[in-house]
Amino acid sequence: MNTRKMKIGFVGLGIMGSRMAANLLKEGHELVVYNRSIDKAQLLVDQGASVAKNVKDLATQVDLVFTMLSTPTVVRKTAAELLPNLRPDSWWVDCSTVNPSFSREMAQLSKTHGVNFIDAPVAGSKAPAENGELLFLAGGLEKNLKPISPYLDSMGKKTIFLNEIGNGANMKMLINLMLAQSMATFSEAIALGKGMGLHQELLLNIMTATPVVSPVMGLLKDRLVAENFDVNFPLKWIHKDILLALETAEEVGVPMPSLNQTEILYRDALDKDLGELDFSAIYKSLVI
Ligand SMILES: NC(=O)c1ccc[n+]([C@@H]2O[C@H](COP(=O)([O-])OP(=O)(O)OC[C@H]3O[C@@H](n4cnc5c(N)ncnc54)[C@H](OP(=O)(O)O)[C@@H]3O)[C@@H](O)[C@H]2O)c1
Repeated sequence: MNTRKMKIGFVGLGIMGSRMAANLLKEGHELVVYNRSIDKAQLLVDQGASVAKNVKDLATQVDLVFTMLSTPTVVRKTAAELLPNLRPDSWWVDCSTVNPSFSREMAQLSKTHGVNFIDAPVAGSKAPAENGELLFLAGGLEKNLKPISPYLDSMGKKTIFLNEIGNGANMKMLINLMLAQSMATFSEAIALGKGMGLHQELLLNIMTATPVVSPVMGLLKDRLVAENFDVNFPLKWIHKDILLALETAEEVGVPMPSLNQTEILYRDALDKDLGELDFSAIYKSLVI
């Protein structure tokens, strides 16, 4: 396997991808970038990246590609341009949040092109992406992923190796369904507290000081008090993740009665045009 310094491609320069790519540059890696809205590449070009004309152009130049895209549909479309144009024995690391059966499908497709594929979704949002403190959930064995580990280390504080393709996506589904559920349950409790006549700030302070509440709510408390829903993780993408978790649950035959209800709550929030705000805007939908 290839252990020389690789030339890297990065496709998908949204909230997460732009920051991850910037950290690769900071560590001195040679980087080619591409994004559908190409203006988002400019900051990285100013920092030393080169920009590709399209996905095919990027693929022909690099040894290792990271994708950080919105949905499985977008990743599939990108793969169709990427895979036929990558050199055999190059690497594709998909960091997008997708469902595990989709990751396994991409692994199979990559194999037909002689490309090494790995699902490596991330835990951590905008700030950890910016600070190089993401947690990578890699669907492979540490010994097999040695050629790409240094590049993951440039963007994250740790990589958990989960042995098999699809296990990164499996873990990510679980983390995000817990995040979605705990945010919605917390918001509903605060709504009831308000309904019973308790003061909102008092409720937030007391509830987040108890062990029944997820630590994430404590991290979000000041933003909730200020009713600040500026986007770190778009609500529309956590709704996408709920749907992917439900699809996965159906594939493996596990009923998800509470997640089905939670999906309705986030769908309502989308209907209220809150999709571009932070996922915590479910609080706005349910409480304010
Ligand atoms: N934000 C977080 O906290 C967070 C944390 C962990 C994982 N994630 C996951 O990471 C992925 C990216 O999230 P993000 O927050 O960075 O989202 P984002 O800012 O909305 O970025 C989405 C990316 O996908 C591209 N894209 C969307 N539709 C496309 C299409 N039809 N064709 C080509 N490209 C398209 C966007 O290109 P344009 O710029 O042209 O729209 C952009 O590069 C998602 O899977 C998300 O669930 C997010």
